Amino acid sequence: MKVLFVCLGNICRSPTAEAVFRSYLKQHKLESQVTVDSAGTGDWHVGHSPDKRAILKGKQRGYDLSRLKARQASEDDFAQFDYILAMDKQNLIDLQSLMPTDSQINPELFLNYAGLEQAEVPDPYFGGDKGFDEVIDLVEKACEGLIKDIKQRLL
Ligand code: 4NP
Repeated sequence: MKVLFVCLGNICRSPTAEAVFRSYLKQHKLESQVTVDSAGTGDWHVGHSPDKRAILKGKQRGYDLSRLKARQASEDDFAQFDYILAMDKQNLIDLQSLMPTDSQINPELFLNYAGLEQAEVPDPYFGGDKGFDEVIDLVEKACEGLIKDIKQRLL
């Protein structure tokens, strides 16, 4: 099973989701069965490390983002991944236009797995530190739901 998290820049939200989910996979002893990656719809930050604030906030909450490097999502990802999970509605629209016509999978909003009213993980890039805490809160909630969904599919 392969999971891809997608945001705009691949330096704030999706690398946070990648690191949190990798930690959850370890806790649930699913690391050997599920792989995880992240990407951005945009190309401005390709090759860059995550935003310093995302690395710091992640570290404070027990997640290591420090070794991740940004890449851009591509058409080929639709052939590689079982889940492609968008952080917001614009990311989803951008993924839908990248999707090959014969794709076997559909991208979806990551927060569909959170069981909340909220549909989107807000972009923290232009805001303050508080936004990065909110990202981790939402990502943790959705990762719990995603673990349950994957466990069902692996039965
Ligand atoms: P992300 O945040 O999509 O969560 O990685 C952003 C990072 C960079 C930019 C926008 C959002 N940017 O405009 O450069």
